[in-house]
Parts: sequence; structure tokens; C-alpha cells
Amino acid sequence: MQNPQEVQLAVDALRAALPAATSGEKPLLGLILGTGLSGLAAELLTGPAASEAPGARVAFASLPGFPLPGVDSHQGAFVLGRLHGVPVLAQQGRCHLYEGRSPAEVCMGVRVMAGMGVKTLIITNAAGALNPRFEAGTLMCMADQINHTGVSPLTGPNCAAWGERFPDMSAPFDPALQALALETAGELGVRLERGVYIGVHGPEMESPAETRMYRQWGADAVGMSTVLEVIAARHLGLRALGLSCLSNKNLPDCMTPVPLAEVIAVAARAGENLARLLRALVTKL
Ligand code: HPA
Repeated sequence: MQNPQEVQLAVDALRAALPAATSGEKPLLGLILGTGLSGLAAELLTGPAASEAPGARVAFASLPGFPLPGVDSHQGAFVLGRLHGVPVLAQQGRCHLYEGRSPAEVCMGVRVMAGMGVKTLIITNAAGALNPRFEAGTLMCMADQINHTGVSPLTGPNCAAWGERFPDMSAPFDPALQALALETAGELGVRLERGVYIGVHGPEMESPAETRMYRQWGADAVGMSTVLEVIAARHLGLRALGLSCLSNKNLPDCMTPVPLAEVIAVAARAGENLARLLRALVTKL
């Protein structure tokens, strides 16, 4: 569903909640921080350089109609600040379809960020590796995606002010941004795989047969977020980059349970490299 009035109310509330000192700030870059990555938002708040003004934090709870994340590993706030001098609007935490949230709720953050002036969006997540060559604890740049959630954020009447009725998805992730991410990772010595992400509804983890099928479909990693956000972002004409922290490895012939604590711990470890990559990347955008 497309809900421009609700999104506008949240945009207005976010603008009003930001301190006057930040009101002139145009955050061209948006960042969605998933599982294990909230630490980067703290850096936005303090500013890496003493000369930079501290950022501002606005809790989702203070924005009308904004859905609150229901998972412990996700905080819920927008943080406007500077990363190496670049004004960034970060969404710290997200809600998911598996929490019973609608596609419109899942995509509200993307639409609010676009309303705030964001033109480029970096979406992060934790994902399970399906490609047997990919190791847990490493990062993956999303080259393409499969929306296997069964829903779309674009159903219902189209908001022409946002985008086209049938938006193009021939390149969901910006090729130039991907190239820049891979180049930057190489310079830092950070291992960054490149692959296809399949987004599923969840919350159950995949069975061995599902894992085998997703791999045969061409997916390299699986997760329960991101794909709808990317569709909403492309509809709005935002350039998107997707970066996954591979928190576990799913091989259909030797599957073992993956406790949430492990997903969070390994994603946090990979998240340290992702934070390094993001810090270096923003200066090149
Ligand atoms: N499956 C689905 N979502 C996930 C996984 C997984 O293995 N790991 C992290 N998020």
C-alpha cells in the first residue's frame, strides 16, 4: 500500500523534532542499520571529529504512525548526524513482516527518508549465507534480489508524486555504488562478497528443502528484511546499495539450528567491518 498522507505527517514530525541547529542539514545519504549495526548511529551522534556538531536522535515513538521495531536487537530511532563530514540520516532499527507489520509499515522509514531529502540509500541487514563459498562473519554486497515475501509495498492506488505504477527493477542496486563498495572494501582489506539476496517472510528459519530451492533459484544469501525497502526506494527513484552481514551459513545437507544470539553476535562482528567500510565509503559518494 502507498500512504503518502501518513508518511507526510511523520516527515513533518521528524523535521519539527530535530533541533534548530540541524534544520539546515540536507541529508542526501540515508542509512538503514539492521541487526548488530546500531553502533554506527552512536558515532553519528557524537561526530567523529571534535569540531563537528553532535547529531540528533528522534525516537520512532515520537513520530505519529511510525511502527516500532518489535525485536530486542533493533532500536528504534532516526539519527541525523555527520559521518566524516557527510550529513547522514540513519534509521536505527526496522520492523518486519513477521511481526505482523504491513508492507507500508515496513517501508515507512524509506519513504520518510525520501521525504527528508535523501537521494541515496544504503540498506544493511543480517543474512544467512546460501552460497557455500561465503563464510559466516563476512560481508556481502547485494547484486540483485528476489522478493519471496509474497507481498509488495506498491499495491493499491499508485502515488504518482512518489513514482511510476510499474517501476523498473532491472537494476535494483546501483551498479556504480556496488563498484565503489567493492573497490573500497579492497582498499581496506575487508572481504566483501557479491551476490543475490532472497527476502522471505519469516519468522521461521528455512528448512533444508527451502534452502536447497533458494540456492537453485540463484540466491547467495537469505534474510527477512530489505527487499520491500528496496522496491519502495526504487519506486521513489532513490539509488540503493545493499550490504549484508552474513551471520550464519545454511547448507541444505548439514543444517543445524541457528540461535538468535548467534545471529546477533556474528552480525555484530561482521558489523565492525561494515562500519569501517561505510565510514570509508561515505567520503567517496
Ligand atoms: N535465514 C533468514 N534470515 C536470517 C538468517 C537466516 O539464516 N540469518 C540472519 N537472518
